[in-house]
Amino acid sequence: MAQFEYDTLLVDTVDEVSTITFNRPEARNAMNPQFHFDMRDALKDVAADNDTRVVVLTGSAGSWIAGMDLKQFFYEGFKNPRGMADAGEAAGVWNRSLRYMPKPTIAMVNGYVFGAAFSVLCACDIAVADEEALLGLPEINWGIAPGGNLLFDIPEMMPFRDMLWMALSGENITGKQAADMRFVNFAVPQAELKNKVLDIAENLKKKAPEALQSTKLGARLSLKMDREHQGAFIMALSGQAGRSADARGTGGTTRALEQFMDKKYRPAFGEYDWQTEESNPR
Ligand code: ACO
Repeated sequence: MAQFEYDTLLVDTVDEVSTITFNRPEARNAMNPQFHFDMRDALKDVAADNDTRVVVLTGSAGSWIAGMDLKQFFYEGFKNPRGMADAGEAAGVWNRSLRYMPKPTIAMVNGYVFGAAFSVLCACDIAVADEEALLGLPEINWGIAPGGNLLFDIPEMMPFRDMLWMALSGENITGKQAADMRFVNFAVPQAELKNKVLDIAENLKKKAPEALQSTKLGARLSLKMDREHQGAFIMALSGQAGRSADARGTGGTTRALEQFMDKKYRPAFGEYDWQTEESNPR
C-alpha cells in the first residue's frame, strides 16, 4: 500500500492486513476534530487500496478510544460552532465509511472504550477485546444522554437491557464482561490479543472478497428494512454475486458448485478455490 501520513493515526499494511492505530496517546486517543478528518481520509485510502483485504482498528498506549475529545471537540467546539459542525460532519462520514467498508473490519480493543467510541466499535464487523479492557458510557456522569448514533447503534450489537443499564448507571464493564454479553466476539488475555486478531484476519483473507462484501452489506443494510424489502434486496445482492465472473461456472452453475461436485472441498470445513487462474479469470 502507498504510505499515507496522518497527524493522529498510524496506518501499516502487512500481508494484505491494514492496521489503523489511533495515535493520540496524550489524550488516550480521544477523538478531536483532526482525528475525524484523518479517519475520513484513512478509511477512503484503505478502502481503495488493492493491497488491503482486511482492516484492523486498534489504539496506541493501552487505550482504544476514550470517546469524543471533551476539550477540543466539545469545550473548544461550543465556542467555535462552525468548526464543530465541520468535525461533526467528518465524524458522520467516516462512521458510515467504516460501517459500509467493502472489506471486513476487526476491532482490536486494547483498552479504554468510552462514549462515542461505542459507535466506532459497533461500526466494526468483528470485535476482539483484551479481557481487561474497560468500556463505559460516562455521558450520564456529566449530565447528558449518549448522543450521536449511540442509542440506536448499540442495541444492534448489545442486549437492550445491558445497554440501558450501562447508559443509566454510567458503570463500566471489562472486555471479559463485554464478551459475556456478546458485545464483542472474544475476550482474550492482552498477550494473545494480536495473534487472535491476526488468526481471524488470515481466515477472512481466504474467503472470496465479493462474498465477504455482499454478506456484510446484506446484513447491515437489510437490518432496518421491512420483510418484503429485505427479501428483494438480498435476492438482488446474491444475484449480483452469482453473475460475477468469479462465480460463473459452466452451464449457469458456479465454480464453487463445480468444485463441490468434483469433491475438491467441503464447504462446512473450508472455502472453494477462488484464487487460481482457472477459478478467477479476471
Ligand atoms: N477528551 C479529552 N481529553 C481526554 C479524554 C477525553 N475524552 N480522555 C482522557 N483525556 C486526557 C486527560 O484529560 C488527560 O490529559 P492531561 O494529561 O492533559 O491532563 C490525559 O488524557 C490522560 O487522562 P487521565 O485521566 O490522566 O488518564 P487515566 O488513564 O487515569 O484515565 C480515562 C483515562 C478513564 C479515559 C479518563 O481520562 C476519563 O474519564 N476520560 C473521559 C472519558 C469520557 O468521558 N469519554 C466520553 C466522552 S463523551 C462522548 O464521547 C460523547
